[in-house]
Amino acid sequence: MKLIMLGPPGVGKGTQAQQLSKEFGIPQISTGDILRDAIQKKTVLGEKANTFMSKGELVPDEVMLGIIQETLFSEHAPEGYILDGFPRTIAQAEGLQNLFEEHNDALNAVLSLEADENQIVRRLSSRRTCRNCNALYNLLTMPPKIEGKCDLCSGNLYQRDDDRIETIQNRLRVYKQQTEPLIGFYKSLGVLKSINASGAPEEVQKNIKRQLED
Ligand code: AP5
Repeated sequence: MKLIMLGPPGVGKGTQAQQLSKEFGIPQISTGDILRDAIQKKTVLGEKANTFMSKGELVPDEVMLGIIQETLFSEHAPEGYILDGFPRTIAQAEGLQNLFEEHNDALNAVLSLEADENQIVRRLSSRRTCRNCNALYNLLTMPPKIEGKCDLCSGNLYQRDDDRIETIQNRLRVYKQQTEPLIGFYKSLGVLKSINASGAPEEVQKNIKRQLED
């Protein structure tokens, strides 16, 4: 199964992708996690990416397509994967389609998660992430059992730099301008599934499963 999670920042793509990954036994490939890992390790990619990410801007398409080509087509993921955070521009989506054609491969579905903007801002400003295993928490809706510690691995929880309110607003603007057009792109390919993502995580998961069974 090859899936794409599409939707604005904070709508719950990572939360749902982690759950689907466990259920289907396929990896979640989060380009945001790959870039944050590179920033933490202070690699050349990390330093380049940080100049864009800290402002809520997108990392250039050629950099992202290079990462995806290496991750999807040189690693062996026979059962498929869940792409979380890629593609984010029409150029990235076209690049991905070209890669699929070259490899005689295809997507199963693009899950387009939808929720209103106030809800999104609330979710992002109270998010915490595990430094060690990237598990996601929310101080309002999914708090950890022990403050500041991951329930799964006891790693330290941190707040992402780009979850400051000014950066959130810019990320939402960038989403509308550059990523939202992908909804039409994938609709025209006949693979788009619209998901109501405004309920609790378990409810959203049910909506996704229902759509995948259709
Ligand atoms: P990335 O890491 O992909 O961030 P994003 O798309 O902005 O999405 P988020 O991770 O912020 O949110 P999410 O939808 O995954 O929500 P989550 O599940 O965490 O990208 C970061 C940056 O990297 C970009 O700005 C860009 O600079 C760069 N980048 C990455 N990919 C790129 C690409 N392809 N091209 C160019 N640049 C790229 O949930 C959010 C919070 O809400 C959590 O606290 C969670 O616990 C809570 N929550 C989730 N679901 C629910 C629910 N149903 N009810 C209540 N709370 C919920």
